[in-house]
Order: sequence, then structure tokens, then C-alpha cells
Amino acid sequence: MNVPNHDILIVGGGGAGLRAAIAAVELDPNLSVGLVSKVYPMRSHTVSAEGGSAAVIRDDDSFDGHAFDTIKGSDFLADQDVVEIFVKEARDELIQLEHWGCPWSRDDDGRISVRAFGGMSVKRTLYAADKTGFHMLHALFQTSLKYDRIHRYDEWFGTRLLLDDNGAACGVAAINVRSGAMQAIPAKAVIICTGGGGRIFPFTTNAAIKTGDGMSMAYRAGCPLKDMEFVQYHPTGLPGTGILMTEASRGEGGYLINNKGDRYLSEYLPDKMELGPRDMVSRAFVHEERAGRVFSGPYGTYVHLDLRHLGEKKIDERIPFVRELTKNYVGIDPVYEPVPVRPVVHYMMGGIHTDITTATPIPGLYAAGETACVTMNGANRLGSNSLSELLVFGARAGQYAVEYASEVNPPSYDSLEKMAADEWQRIENAFFKNEGSERIADIRTDLQKTMEQGAGIYREQESLEATCAELLKLKERYTRVQVDDNSSVFNTELTAALELGSLLDVAETVAHSALLRRESRGSHSRMDYEERDDENFLCHSLAYRTDGDPRIEYQDVVITRWQPQERTY
Ligand code: FUM
Repeated sequence: MNVPNHDILIVGGGGAGLRAAIAAVELDPNLSVGLVSKVYPMRSHTVSAEGGSAAVIRDDDSFDGHAFDTIKGSDFLADQDVVEIFVKEARDELIQLEHWGCPWSRDDDGRISVRAFGGMSVKRTLYAADKTGFHMLHALFQTSLKYDRIHRYDEWFGTRLLLDDNGAACGVAAINVRSGAMQAIPAKAVIICTGGGGRIFPFTTNAAIKTGDGMSMAYRAGCPLKDMEFVQYHPTGLPGTGILMTEASRGEGGYLINNKGDRYLSEYLPDKMELGPRDMVSRAFVHEERAGRVFSGPYGTYVHLDLRHLGEKKIDERIPFVRELTKNYVGIDPVYEPVPVRPVVHYMMGGIHTDITTATPIPGLYAAGETACVTMNGANRLGSNSLSELLVFGARAGQYAVEYASEVNPPSYDSLEKMAADEWQRIENAFFKNEGSERIADIRTDLQKTMEQGAGIYREQESLEATCAELLKLKERYTRVQVDDNSSVFNTELTAALELGSLLDVAETVAHSALLRRESRGSHSRMDYEERDDENFLCHSLAYRTDGDPRIEYQDVVITRWQPQERTY
């Protein structure tokens, strides 16, 4: 089957991908956009975002205020030129989304409501109850349906970025999961918007689909992954499942309580309490755990998220999803009982290295959303900045990719078809003609275990070295994975085998970047290097793929107006 030769091919059908697609077709009425997604777009992980999306929309707020909070939250690792653009464009994006049908919650006077979020100095998080991602994704998806020039490849798994003779991106090789056929999809420019890779850890809010496929695709094509050592733990996940208990529950006034009945954050963040930044609130849990002031349950230790004092009316109006989830998953009604919570892997600040225009070092390749590192989150993202980020930089990716595509010729389909055939050969050899006896699930479990042991909330040289060594062994074991199911239609075992390859790629960049960053900054807390070290590490890490361990290089942080200072709350 021949597929159209697109101007722009987007890999990933979540918030960033849809926003990029709309931006591209709105810019040029003759443009053809392909949108490849391994799941139906409304199943993308954006749908599960809960608490809200940040922007300056009130008189008590300012762009500088939002920028400074973001930069301070990032522990001064964010590129400040990027942040300055972000805060200005976020407001227009959220208003645009309202016009596309996103039902923002409103105050009695009709104004769009804003709520408090961790690390933000004023209320600036817009929300749609606590189902913000669901409503945002709906608004974007419905808007995209207006354009028949957006050609969707739902349930296609992109496995390889195709490069022309000059090393420029010219399409993607993808498997149509419904038929099992491998196909080249040609395009003048490619945008990767495939989300993060939180599934390298065992306990995460991330959907099972978040296996870092886009990061891996770019990494394998020679693009570095930036700032991968920075992995965000969200302080409040439901033990067992990892389901997110939104920060909005604390923004609306919820308390975190230890087994002594104390709001223990008074010891760590007396001014901010439950609304401290996520890295610090998550670390406070570990200190409470070490002091024996946490509860124990079948899924590990936990503290209580107490919402009872908010009352049923407020809970049902502002955070109904929290009530729905806790009732369904742990049999607890937060109106009457506290909810068990513990820190959970939530977000990757790092990702595909892009500049402020979302362009990567590979000509014709762009990236946006969690899969990218543009970099506005530095060492720690503030909650509610990521939904705004995927809109701002999704739109920018669409626009800049159109500009690029207008200046290049379409790739030749024949040469791409040959590359896709080679890619299928690689997959066949790796998984179907392989005599090995390794199981996908065993390697994945061992991978998640070693990542938690070595690269969790706290890290140190010895455990990171052990994780790096274990990852090498896991990569070797991966060469001996055999896929038993050789059917073509919806071969989920093959999908899992391919995803495991992505997880291994992402994991090695996290562990090696963390090993070499001998300081503590934001989410990266080294027990052996407890201080931030601006002299040596006020810089971004860039992990390049090699035949062995990744090669790590560094790049300066862009400082415009805010000199690094001690980060206290
Ligand atoms: O807690 C939350 O609702 C998460 C928000 C975010 O990660 O931005």
C-alpha cells in the first residue's frame, strides 16, 4: 500500500501532536499532515492530566512572576529565553482552547477560575474540575477533525526515523498494528510528540503506553537526549496502582499528614506547606519514612492526604475525579476518610534536545511536549506548566516545521520503501528468527527495579554505577528476546518487545546522565553531593547513543534576567 507523501508527519497523537497538526494546517491551506499514533488519539496520556494548566490571566499576576516561579522551580536550569516566550504564549493558547470548546471552570462572576499549585506564587492554574487533560484533549481532537488534510494513522507504531542521504529527516517507518504491515510514511519534516518514558520505573502515574518510543527513535537516529537525569516524582500517587491524586487536591486546601497526625511539611516547607514544589515535597516523604513517621501497607509505606475538612460540596465541585478514583480503586471516600498516598514517578524534565523553535540537531526533525526538552523545566517542573507547554511548543513545532517544509523537496518514496523493508528485516531478525529464551516481562521488571534502586528520589555514585552495569546486562539479555506470537494482527507481544527497546534506551540516558552530575539540583538529589554546584553544573547534559554506554556532553544554560540564587521556599 502506498501512503501519501506528506509535508509534515507528526508522531504522537496526544495534546502536543494534535496542537502541532492544527497549527500546521492553519498556516498553509494546501498542506498535508500525517498523524501517526500507536493508540487512538483520545487514549493518549494527555487525557489523564488532572489538575490544570498554568497561564497569567489575572490582574494580580505578571509574566515576570510566572517566569520567575518557573525558573526558580527549575533550580535555575531552565533556559530563560524559552521560559519568557512560554509565559507570554501560554495565555493566548489557553484562551484559544476555550474558543475550541474547552470548558474551563468558572467563578460565580463568570471569569475563568484559577487555583493554587505547588511552587506558583499566585493562583494561575486554569482547570476544568480535575479532568483538565480530558477536556483539553477533547477540544484539540474535535478541532483537528475539522481538517481533512490531517490524515490519521491510528494504531500505527513508528519504529524508525528515516533519514535521507544528507542526514535530514524524511519520514518514518511504522507498523500498522491492525494488519502487521510495515510501511514507510514519507514527509518533508517530522515532529515527534510521543510523551515521556516514565515506564522505566515500576511505580508511576504514566500510562502503560509511555515507553519513550519517540525519545528512543530520535536517540537512535543520532539526536542527543537532554537533561535526562531529571525525573519528577509527584508527591501523591495511590499506592499499588500509582494513580495520580492531583496536586489540585492540595491546591484546594488538602493536607498531608504523617502517622503522628502531624502536617509534617511544617518541618520542611513552613511557608509553602503542601504547596511546595514537587521535588521538595517528595523528599520530605522520604525523611518522614526514615524517621518512622509513615504508615505501612501492602503496597509499601504511605502518608495521608486528608481532604475531609474541604467538605463534600467542594470536593464534588472541584476535585470530583479524586473522589471517583479513590472510591473505585481503594474503596475510600475522601469526604469521610483520608487517602493513602506516596511519591510516584510522574514526569521527565529531559527529552529530545531541541532549541527554542523546537528544532532538533537533525535537519527536518522537531519535537514538542514531554518527549522534548526545549528546555523550560530545567531540574524540576512546576505542576500545571506541562499542559501549557504542550500547547505553546506543539503550536511552535507545527509552525516551524511548515516553514522548513516549504523549502525542501519531497523525499523519493522508493528509497524510503527500501529503508522500511530493512527496518522490518531488523525486527524479524531481532524477535522472530531469534533462538533466545529471554522473556520481555522479566527484562522489563528487572529494568524497573534497577532504575528505582539506583535512580530514584535519592541517588549516589555506588547505586548509580550498579544500575548502569545492570542496564548493560539487560541490553545484552534483550538481544536474546524471542517473540512467540508470530501473528500479524494486533501482535501486542511484538509491540511490547519494541517498547522494551525504547525503555532500555531511555533508561541508560537517565542513569548515565545522573551518574555524571555530581551535584544536587531540583529532582536530582545526590546523597554524596548534597549541594548545588553552579560552578561545574549550571549546564544541560546531552546524552548521545554509542555502541556502548552513552556519551555525555554539556551545554550552557541560557540566563537572561534572573541570576541563580539559593532556592528556598
Ligand atoms: O497533580 C496534577 O494534577 C498534575 C499536574 C501536572 O503534572 O502538571
